[in-house]
Amino acid sequence: MTKKALITGISGQDGSYLAEYLIGKGYEVHGLVRRHSVAENQDFRLRNIRDKIHTHYGDLLDVPSLIRVVTEIKPDEIYNLGAMSHVRISFDMPSFTIQTNGLGVLNLLEVYRNFAPNAKFYQASSSEMFGNSVDEDGVQRLTTPMNPVSPYGCAKLLAYNLVRHYRNAYGLHACNGILFNHESPRRGSNFVTNKVVKAAVEIYKGKRSKLELGNLDSYRDWGHSKDYVRAMHMIINHEKPEEFIVSTGETHSVRDLCEIVFNKLGMDYRDYVVQNPKYMRPEELKYLKGDSSKARKTLGWKPDYTFETMLEEMINKWLNKID
Ligand code: GDD
Repeated sequence: MTKKALITGISGQDGSYLAEYLIGKGYEVHGLVRRHSVAENQDFRLRNIRDKIHTHYGDLLDVPSLIRVVTEIKPDEIYNLGAMSHVRISFDMPSFTIQTNGLGVLNLLEVYRNFAPNAKFYQASSSEMFGNSVDEDGVQRLTTPMNPVSPYGCAKLLAYNLVRHYRNAYGLHACNGILFNHESPRRGSNFVTNKVVKAAVEIYKGKRSKLELGNLDSYRDWGHSKDYVRAMHMIINHEKPEEFIVSTGETHSVRDLCEIVFNKLGMDYRDYVVQNPKYMRPEELKYLKGDSSKARKTLGWKPDYTFETMLEEMINKWLNKID
């Protein structure tokens, strides 16, 4: 029988790649979309698969819409990727962030428990939950304490714990993927990788002369979204609902990122990058490097992209797009 998947956040980077991946596996794919005043902005990442998916208006904060969609579809798998996903903006909109990324998950879990308890549930948990905790060997693993340093991280930790609690209390197949940063040509251009790549290509093409950034000395473990949505599918379909870390195990500073991207275009980032306090965060997560050995051993997951091949794909996208 055809499996049905419901993806909240289907119009985002991960949602769109996951939808494509599941279509390729023969799933009937449904997605929750929020109403946007510019209709084109609602589903531009879905333009290649519009006629292959079913979208439904709804919101994690609108319980009746969740009940309607879940009872109508009767999904086999629910992927909760919907969120306010920008860490710096979560300092400006803390209440909305906590509501959507925390209470919104509780809403969906309640609807899941009451109306589709036989489905499997995947929660998009985040390495931001670790905050500045790092084990002595410079790695975050499943046993590393979680001390978030942003409203976004606090909300994600609430959701993470709720998923574990619902699994234990009600015997549900609910699991968490703790994903470290993951990027692609579909990444929003206010996240640092795509911001740097887009600006570097614009500078290369003579369209601008400077790039303003915040903290250049934070480190991130950056993978590719396409590799990470494969992991989501493996995690939810693992026989036991559990927690898994998905990461590359490699870390780079924002400064390294700038150096590599500008070098690839034959430029020196130091001639163009300036710091603007506007992009600094009230509290910064300084360093991420994840241990994904459990996902690699138990699920057989490994990434196809390297940091360099991912950046090349992103650079080529902007080279083709910007005249
Ligand atoms: N966005 C942004 N813009 N980040 C900047 C800038 C800038 O101008 N300048 C420096 N940075 C630094 C940030 O301070 C941070 O240390 C790092 O670049 C990465 O920032 P983002 O790309 O915005 O990602 P993030 O790490 O805060 O959050 C992403 O990864 C999480 C997983 O750890 C998001 O995708 C989250 O949704 C995700 O959960």
